[in-house]
Amino acid sequence: MKPVKVGLLGLGTVGGGTFNVLRRNAQEIARRAGRGIEISRAAAREYDPAGLPGIEAIEVSDDAFAVVDDPAIDIVVELIGGYSPALELVLKAIDNGKHVVTANKALIALHGNEIFAAAQEKGVMVAFEAAVAGGIPIIKAVREGLAANRIEWLAGIINGTGNFILTEMRDKGRDFDEVLKEAQALGYAEADPTFDVEGIDAAHKLTILASLAFGIPLQFDRCFTEGIGRITREDVSYAEQLGYRIKHLGFARRTAAGVEMRVHPTLIPERRLIANVDGVMNAVLIKGDAVGPTLYYGAGAGAEPTASAVVADLVDVTRVLTADPENRVPHLAFQPDALSDIPVLAMADIETAYYLRLCAVDRPGVLAEVTRILGDLGISIEAILQKEPVGEAAHVPIILLTHRVREGQMNQAIEKIEALDAIEGNVTRIRLEHLNA
Ligand code: HSE
Repeated sequence: MKPVKVGLLGLGTVGGGTFNVLRRNAQEIARRAGRGIEISRAAAREYDPAGLPGIEAIEVSDDAFAVVDDPAIDIVVELIGGYSPALELVLKAIDNGKHVVTANKALIALHGNEIFAAAQEKGVMVAFEAAVAGGIPIIKAVREGLAANRIEWLAGIINGTGNFILTEMRDKGRDFDEVLKEAQALGYAEADPTFDVEGIDAAHKLTILASLAFGIPLQFDRCFTEGIGRITREDVSYAEQLGYRIKHLGFARRTAAGVEMRVHPTLIPERRLIANVDGVMNAVLIKGDAVGPTLYYGAGAGAEPTASAVVADLVDVTRVLTADPENRVPHLAFQPDALSDIPVLAMADIETAYYLRLCAVDRPGVLAEVTRILGDLGISIEAILQKEPVGEAAHVPIILLTHRVREGQMNQAIEKIEALDAIEGNVTRIRLEHLNA
């Protein structure tokens, strides 16, 4: 059978990795796909030919639209990233009847509903395994491997850069900015580093996972996002003393009232496997009603780990090129006419436990005032820790762990605690999930 012809858009970290993996493993990949998969042309503004042996044999131009419009191309691989011109290119490729493989999580999270509708109409596939958790085949697992289950919740460390920063801060006491620079040099970080540290990149990925898990349309604007910028070394240390690790977690849960979808720093019991996922590694823990908890672990970023997912998509698309569109795996796991309109909850309506850190004047009765506020709002305390003052400060840090409560109640409690004369500054709040099976 004739090889499938691929047009590659982008020869950066992931594009270069994809080119090299496809070339190096060409025979093995053809044995799996049933025919060869060949990159016949590519588009890139700039690239380094030294790291791409064999690139001289194909046509590389800076005109991505020419690739998308080339009638000889069967599959377009979009590895440019960002919203524009990626969106226009993907929609044009679909309109031209081409299948698309993309690693672009921002594009799928924000424009996926429109892209999938266009693809459905044209009978082409849009595959996006590399968009979530790099090399971990998590989309395949959720969409196909767990298809028997009612998925109850999922929790993921889905940004390698953020996890790398938190790990280095904890283990080596390194400075935030220095670690971020290293992640950028290693090709892990997003072009805009705020996407990593503010949790936007993780929110893109969580939005995709929540849709696949619960059969809801993609709703990035409903995902709550809080970054890691306010986590101090003291918080990391106090959490450890209480038996927890702080991770930047993406968390989605189905409740009777709606779906929780949130990315924020989270305390996790240190004995959980996912609490021990360190460095640039990613992990996703999924609780299905039939299978129970399953954990997926691997490299969430980097050239060849991400290329591994891109090439797996190419093999998938190649295998089903001739299958009837109605018999393909649906883009969002559930049939397009069977998506649910269950709402995504506002953050005030979610329920979780909390770590609170307050700076209090060290005199009798202060703790009683704080616990009375919590008690009056029905918030039950799990643990209290009072530490020595930091440096010359006249105030002492008090750390409280609470049982689960609605976030709206906790907002009221924090407002009242911050208004007390004996409390200095803001209360630090970090959400806590036990992730019990
Ligand atoms: N910036 C992302 C990360 C790359 O650090 O995980 C992979 O999506």
